[in-house]
Amino acid sequence: MNPAGRLDQVQKHLAPEVDPCRLDGQVVLITGGAQGIGRAAAQLLASKGAKIAINDLDETKANAAVRELTSAGHEALAIAGDLLEVDHPQKLVDAVIQRFGKVNVLVNGAGFLVDNAIHRMTEEQFDVVMKIHNYVPYRMIKALSKHWMDSANADMPKAIINIASVSGLHGTPGQVNYCTAKAGVLGLTMAIAKEWSRFNVRCNSVAYGWIDTRMTRPPEETAKFVSGGQEIVAGIPQNYKKWRDTSDILVGARPGTASEAAGVILFLASPLSAYMTGACVECTGGRYL
Ligand SMILES: NC(=O)c1ccc[n+]([C@@H]2O[C@H](COP(=O)([O-])OP(=O)(O)OC[C@H]3O[C@@H](n4cnc5c(N)ncnc54)[C@H](O)[C@@H]3O)[C@@H](O)[C@H]2O)c1
Repeated sequence: MNPAGRLDQVQKHLAPEVDPCRLDGQVVLITGGAQGIGRAAAQLLASKGAKIAINDLDETKANAAVRELTSAGHEALAIAGDLLEVDHPQKLVDAVIQRFGKVNVLVNGAGFLVDNAIHRMTEEQFDVVMKIHNYVPYRMIKALSKHWMDSANADMPKAIINIASVSGLHGTPGQVNYCTAKAGVLGLTMAIAKEWSRFNVRCNSVAYGWIDTRMTRPPEETAKFVSGGQEIVAGIPQNYKKWRDTSDILVGARPGTASEAAGVILFLASPLSAYMTGACVECTGGRYL
């Protein structure tokens, strides 16, 4: 080896390069982590060394997701429950701290649609969508206040990823509740970025276009569930033209996969995005350009 090569080798030995994709030892809490984008994020972030806590309404799927992680040698915890119960976010954060001692990353992913034209939309339909996409992320972040404002945790990496949507940026007919709520996610993200920068917390959002998950499949292929006391029919109808038309999607004229969506969450959770806060990353395959 020439002298320059040897010098480089010694330097790397003294100050080893840290892979900015890695999340070794970090604890990631993902709401809605039992399936879809949240589950793909759990798998990807675990593969980068993170310990994963999954909350979901669907206990069976949450347990299955955790079994999959633990059988691959990762540390993971499932905490089922309805986030629309007002005290559930704090219980969730406390349970994760009790098990893993800390939380480094919060992914606010739980969500659903209750679509209707504005003239037919009921107060309950508007309200429940505002609650799951605005009140729940607000309560989840608030539940971390004590832990993240503690001066003992000042230097610990801390990041929030709020899942927004192109519906909140560009509007989608039949979704006034969802568009209003997802636009609110952007405001929440920017407010927290400013309010908690002094606690070394980064807060960003990702606005997805069409990602193929239960939420976007035709309802007859999905399932009904109850959240906040309301029956929710997951999915977007087959005949909903704007969603099913892929002609304006530039990447492959197809919806994105949950794993492709998860890549942005890794980016925003990891040191790869160390100099970003308050931002909204659009992940749409080029739609809406
Ligand atoms: N799929 C898309 O095209 C798309 C586009 C833009 C934004 N998003 C957003 O991405 C996020 C994840 O959605 P997805 O596409 O993976 O859908 P998904 O239906 O596959 O996953 C959502 C998960 O949230 C859980 N959940 C719903 N209500 C809950 C509650 N009250 N308490 C706890 N868990 C609850 C569900 O059980 C489900 O497992 C949502 O916030 C959604 O609005 C999705």
